[in-house]
Amino acid sequence: MKILFLDQSGQPGGAELCLIEIAKPYRDRCLVGLFSDGPFKQLLEQEQIPVEVLANRPLQVRKDSGWITGIKSLGQLLPLVARVVQLSKQFDVIYANTQKALVVGALASFLSQRPLVFHLHDILSAEHFSSTNLSLAVTLANRFASQVFATSEAARTAFVEAGGRPEITHVVYNGFDPTQYECDRIQIEQVRQQLEFPGKFLIGHFSRLSPWKGQHILLEALQRCPENITTIFVGDALYGEQDYAEMLQKRVIELGLQERVRFLGFRSDIVPLMCACDAIAHTSIAPEPFGRVVVEAMLCQRPVIAAQAGGVVELVQLGVVDWLVPPGDPEQLAAVICLYQTQQEWTQTFAHQARIQSQQRFHRDVINQQVAQLLEQVCNRDRHYISYSPHPTPHTQSTRL
Ligand code: UDP
Ligand code: GLC
Repeated sequence: MKILFLDQSGQPGGAELCLIEIAKPYRDRCLVGLFSDGPFKQLLEQEQIPVEVLANRPLQVRKDSGWITGIKSLGQLLPLVARVVQLSKQFDVIYANTQKALVVGALASFLSQRPLVFHLHDILSAEHFSSTNLSLAVTLANRFASQVFATSEAARTAFVEAGGRPEITHVVYNGFDPTQYECDRIQIEQVRQQLEFPGKFLIGHFSRLSPWKGQHILLEALQRCPENITTIFVGDALYGEQDYAEMLQKRVIELGLQERVRFLGFRSDIVPLMCACDAIAHTSIAPEPFGRVVVEAMLCQRPVIAAQAGGVVELVQLGVVDWLVPPGDPEQLAAVICLYQTQQEWTQTFAHQARIQSQQRFHRDVINQQVAQLLEQVCNRDRHYISYSPHPTPHTQSTRL
């Protein structure tokens, strides 16, 4: 099966990192079409996944944009759709991995008569999206997508509550290769030395800098913890949220945390950094659609403290519920951090269990098998229609109404 993947971003966010694992088995028969250039393109190239940047500048529409911005962007959109229509003739299925990719993919699917799959990495709620974007996403997915892959039950529920068709929606979790999450003592010691927090209890936060990722909540919590608790923030303002990054730096000074906090920017060596931490904090203040960092921390066998909302609740199982705290509550977060510091043997037992569970539940091979089966269904339905319909009309009408 030949797949044309579409993604709007040149930045390696979670949705894009997820796509890398999904595209790998198809590297000899797929193309990833990006609407923007950037480091994500290089990551795909490193993995020998064919990639092409399809637009010469990023689409101007944002999550909170209304109809007027949408209409203004048509000048950019139409040439992109034309290019995707042309490309899609060489592929069996169009796989839209982001919301803007859905818009382009839906139009291209209609025009080229190729089936469309939409991978939904968001919780479609008013907290994250303007009403225009929300209804556009649901309408296009309902009308044009043969299947919607929701990144979690939480994402699926929100989609269905917003009017999305439940019968085409399947939960597809992110897949990981557990062998990539191993680290030895020497590597860990080296990282600890570089971080220059000798003998301190180290909390790691691994996320792009963005208000809803709640890095400020961890700062507020840290101020309530003893002096020997320190933090590294790994990640950058990937989507232009530079003001928030600056605000965090200022807040560190206001709270007198300069000696206890380091901002490391975007890093590609996540695994040794995670392994060098005593615990990992996830602090999103809006429901997290999935939360790759939570699974990655579990795979690295690190104790996690995560915000109890969205997909994250589905990621931790059996006896690890103590690790969840209410979103946006620095008081509670500080209490759990202090507990972890004093109960390290106990947290290691949980971390060990969580590692074993996550190695099975989120194994890349299991997820990729599920994806392959679902894609096979899409293509079979399509072929069936084309070969048996006495009066072939566009497949979009037969399979998607
Ligand atoms: N990440 C990374 N380098 C960084 C910060 C984050 O590679 O400096 C990765 C992180 O390991 C995770 C992804 O970025 O795989 C973020 O995905 P997540 O689902 O946690 O959140 P998103 O940013 O997609 O909302
Ligand atoms: C998005 C979501 C994140 C999720 C990732 C992969 O970036 O914000 O929660 O983990 O997609 O599905």
